[in-house]
Amino acid sequence: MKGILLAGGSGTRLHPMTMAASKQLLPVYDKPMVYYPLSTLMLAGIQDIMLISTPEDLPQFRRLLGDGSRFGVRFAYAEQPSPDGIAQAFLIARDWIGGEACALALGDNLIHGDHLSALLREAAARPLGATVFAYQVRDPERYGVVSFGADGQATEIVEKPPQPKSNWAVTGLYFYDKQVSDIAPRIAPSARGELEITDLNRVYLEAGTLMVDKLSRGYAWLDAGTPDSLLQAATYVQTIQSRTGMLVGCPEEVAFRMGFIDADRLKEQASRLGKTELGRVLMDLAMGAHA
Ligand code: G1P
Repeated sequence: MKGILLAGGSGTRLHPMTMAASKQLLPVYDKPMVYYPLSTLMLAGIQDIMLISTPEDLPQFRRLLGDGSRFGVRFAYAEQPSPDGIAQAFLIARDWIGGEACALALGDNLIHGDHLSALLREAAARPLGATVFAYQVRDPERYGVVSFGADGQATEIVEKPPQPKSNWAVTGLYFYDKQVSDIAPRIAPSARGELEITDLNRVYLEAGTLMVDKLSRGYAWLDAGTPDSLLQAATYVQTIQSRTGMLVGCPEEVAFRMGFIDADRLKEQASRLGKTELGRVLMDLAMGAHA
């Protein structure tokens, strides 16, 4: 399975922070924001990853991530010339996807929780249909919202409804089967002129092949698209890391735990990070201190 990391958009809700910098490169505590969804894709076992961003910001992502070998993955890069919607990623990446199944992670989404890797690998292994994740929030009108029938099956999925029928938001992590490259080009732009990911998901829902996994309260799902949610995400990462000594959203660590890189490679990466706390934790891990 391939994976797209979408780091486009103009980040207007974070102006002036994003007037001269990509939103997805802003720090979330001790790492660039994009590290968190990158770690999520890697936890799903995905090693072929295309990063899509604006023509202005793409060079910075290349500088940060390189060819991916540091993380034991392979990066491809593509431009999204104008922010015409999330589902456009599948049109931009079509040749690269090459008719395979493909996941998509939004560059400002952080998902954290126990057994996440098993949950994600299960979604990645499903041969038919699409899988999305739903999470209960207080402000569903900010998101894609999914409603469920009495039997627990998803019945409806709506983008940013003014009067949401449920408080289950659809997170920015999507798994699609190989049909996605044929379905995405059939989506029409919405009233706001965007190719909506919710419309793509609705095609699967109407075909009876959309699996909606409810993330229980044991998981944290945060987006970092506003000053408040950016600060909350940073505080969350700081709290968990300093309390437990375990890392959140660290692709070097995930690469090692997933077997994408060996201990020597991890040591090199830890050294690159110099005297930072992150470097120290990774070095300990490589030396087997916390194996
Ligand atoms: C996008 C999607 C929305 C989803 C959200 C998750 O919204 O359109 O369906 O719930 O990501 O972060 P955006 O953040 O682009 O407003």
